[in-house]
Amino acid sequence: MPFNAYSSTARDGDLAQLVGLRHKHFILTLETGAKFETHRGILQHNDLIGKEWGTQVFSHLGSPFFLLQPSLADLLINLPRTTQIMYPKDIGYILVTMGVGPGQTVMEAGSGSGSMTTALAHTVGNEGRVVSYEIKPDTQNLARKNLNRFGLASRVNFKLRDIAEGFDETDADSFFLDVPNPYDYIRQVRAALKPGGFLCCLMPTFNQVEKVLQALRQNNFAFIEVCEILLRYFKPEPSRLRPTDRMVAHTGFLAFARKIEPNEDPRGKELIKEISEGDS
Ligand SMILES: C[S@@+](CC[C@H](N)C(=O)[O-])C[C@H]1O[C@@H](n2cnc3c(N)ncnc32)[C@H](O)[C@@H]1O
Repeated sequence: MPFNAYSSTARDGDLAQLVGLRHKHFILTLETGAKFETHRGILQHNDLIGKEWGTQVFSHLGSPFFLLQPSLADLLINLPRTTQIMYPKDIGYILVTMGVGPGQTVMEAGSGSGSMTTALAHTVGNEGRVVSYEIKPDTQNLARKNLNRFGLASRVNFKLRDIAEGFDETDADSFFLDVPNPYDYIRQVRAALKPGGFLCCLMPTFNQVEKVLQALRQNNFAFIEVCEILLRYFKPEPSRLRPTDRMVAHTGFLAFARKIEPNEDPRGKELIKEISEGDS
């Protein structure tokens, strides 16, 4: 069962979030008879199961918590990880830009800790499929464990491989590429995508973007866009509304492109040139 985003009360087996003082928050799976121990005391799962989401609950020491249904963003931010992960601010824009939706087949490499895998699996729904390649067995195991915990693993094919060897798939709707040297695999990704399919690469540095742009042009990708998502939080105080003191200044640059199938017809030359160059 994927994580419960529907019911209004907490049920046995649901993922839940407890938010206590000083913004301490915990994600747990509710289990009849289990207990949850924090430095502010113990909470019995039986006392949480059946409660309405949004209710206030107390540990045996009287410490207050709110019982909340975790959002997808809550799950991702708190994801157990051994790699750099994708964050909601980038994921949201990527999903919408690549048009990821129910029933699609989407691919990614590498799986890393499974943050993007989780978002993709959530978005493609029960009828969809995520194919996720990773080179490191331990990392793949962690991603699988995370997806299992969220009840999403059945939507994902995890494959252990160096993607330099290519992919088994040939008709993916979209591909998310998050490896240190994406420019080395654009040819392989092209072979895995359906004509017109979407590619997105995430890269921390300009140098990587430059090389990816060259590789995209060499491999008949067009409609290329490069961007960066900046997210600025505000202190939600009506009488002195202002930005928070700190901000995540950089996660990565995003390069989007679509696989095109140009032909030799001279009438199409000008358009091919235009879409390959992008806006200037
Ligand atoms: C930054 S992490 C990916 C994070 C992931 N997108 C997430 O949201 O959690 C990059 C991953 O790519 C994997 N990787 C690097 N080169 C690879 C290759 N040639 N083939 C397959 N996986 C590779 C690494 O082992 C690492 O786990």
